[in-house]
Parts: sequence; structure tokens; C-alpha cells
Amino acid sequence: MKTEARILMVEPRYFDVSYRINPWMQPDAWARDPKGCAAAANDASQALRRALARAGCEVVVRAGSPGLPDMVFPANAAIVLDGRALLARFRYPQRQGEEAAFLAMFHALRDEGLLAEVAQLPEGCFQEGAGDAIWDTRRDWFWAAYGPRSSRDSLARVREFFGKETVAMELVSDRCYHLDVCFCPLAGGEILYFPPALTAQALRNLRERVPADLLIEATEDDLARFSVNAVSVGRQIVMATPADRLRAVLTERGYHVTPVDLAPFMMSGGGAYCMTLRLDRASLADGAEPA
Ligand code: ARG
Repeated sequence: MKTEARILMVEPRYFDVSYRINPWMQPDAWARDPKGCAAAANDASQALRRALARAGCEVVVRAGSPGLPDMVFPANAAIVLDGRALLARFRYPQRQGEEAAFLAMFHALRDEGLLAEVAQLPEGCFQEGAGDAIWDTRRDWFWAAYGPRSSRDSLARVREFFGKETVAMELVSDRCYHLDVCFCPLAGGEILYFPPALTAQALRNLRERVPADLLIEATEDDLARFSVNAVSVGRQIVMATPADRLRAVLTERGYHVTPVDLAPFMMSGGGAYCMTLRLDRASLADGAEPA
């Protein structure tokens, strides 16, 4: 199978749930059995790697850093397009240490030829990477969120840096603290999303741009299963174990869904998409085929 995507993952060696910066996080449950949870996280991370490889992806794995458990979510590390990486600025002090660690990792990726350029946002301009700026391969723009984590002024910075439109998607709830928890563009142009997570204006921005037959509404249950937080590569979708209904809807539309049990990472409020970062996203202007 030809390589469909190059995806960064971070080893779960230093992953744990020791603080609570989103309402899904369960530090108490983790603390009851840290060894068992860590072992389960290791298995789940391996399972995701295998699923991505089977979906035709090349997975680039890098080590995390001690004391920075949420580095396993590299979707938050940066926005990457056309070989250019714009590194995140984290809202919470618990994650701010990741900025330096990811900067070093991304410089190394650049030195290996996997990236062309690495840049940083100014301090104080919060932006949590591809978790809040989701590239739409069909439409050649970013769906860009602000609210719980990223700040509104980050949208203009992202637009300037990449020279691409940022469609504003304001988030209303702490449960959907990143856009990728509740919003997932698919390769065929559909958008899987959870409407209550978005402001009325964000819903207008979406519905003005995407025809109704391409909008797939996710349910409360899909959200809680972290199935919306999916990796979509061509006709392949890798997601935390979905409900039968969602799987059937996607199959009906011609997608092949690979479920992965990501329970240990859901204890931190994460699913498949946030455990990955596409390194090879290319804009249409550069002659790329949407994937
Ligand atoms: N515990 C992490 C946090 O709250 C989870 C991040 C998941 N990432 C994502 N893009 N949704 O920051």
C-alpha cells in the first residue's frame, strides 16, 4: 500500500494523568492503579500505531520528556502545513514546559529533512496547535478555534504565517476544550461535528460553507467515546471505538473505520487525532491531491 500520510506520535513512557485541566481528566482513577494504567496506555499507543500503519500511514515516533505527560498529544504541539511548523503556546502552566521540548524535537525533525521551517508564535498568544486549527484538505483552509485554550488573536497570526484563510470556530464548553474533540473534516468533504460545542456564529460559518448533505452530526455518546477525535486519511478513518450507529453512518458513506481502544488516553481527554500530528499536510495551491 502506498504511504498515504506521515504522522508524528510521541512514546507514552512519561504519560500519566496527574492534573486536571479539562473535565474528562481522571487523576484519581489513574492514581488508584498507576502501573496498570501505564501498561494499558502503552498497549493502546501500540495499537494506534499499528492501525495507522495498516491504514497506509508512515508513523514517526519520538520520545517524550519526563514531567510532561501530555506530550503524547502532539496534535497540540504545532500547526504544520507545506513543511512549515508553527509551534503552539499553551494556555495552562501544566503544559507550558512542552513548548521548549517540542521546539527541540521539531528542530531535530527539520534537521532530518522532515520539516522545512520551524517558527514560534509570540508569547501570550495562546494557540494549541492542530487541535485548534484543523486543516481542511478539500477546501484549503483552517477551521480555527478559540475559547477555552487558544486565544482569538491567534487566528490572524495563523492566517498571516501560512497565508491561508482561518474560519473562526468559537467553542462554548470546557468539555470541547479543543476543536478536534468535536469537529472532524473527512476526505470526501464531509464534516463530522457536535453542534452544541459551537457558538451560533461558528455554526453559521460552518453551514454557509458546507452543504447540509455533507454535515454529519455527532451525538453526545460519540463525543464521550472520543470517536469524533478521529484520524481521517483518504477513505480510512482510525478512531477510538465508535458506537455502531456512527460506524454504520461512515461505512454507508464509503469509509473504512478502524476502531482502537484508547481508554487510557480518554482518561486524559484525548483520542486518536490528538495523539497524532500530520507532518506532510500540503495545501492545494502546492499541487497536492486532497488526502
Ligand atoms: N490532557 C490534555 C489537555 O487537556 C489532553 C489534550 C488532548 N488533545 C487534543 N487535541 N484534544 O490538554
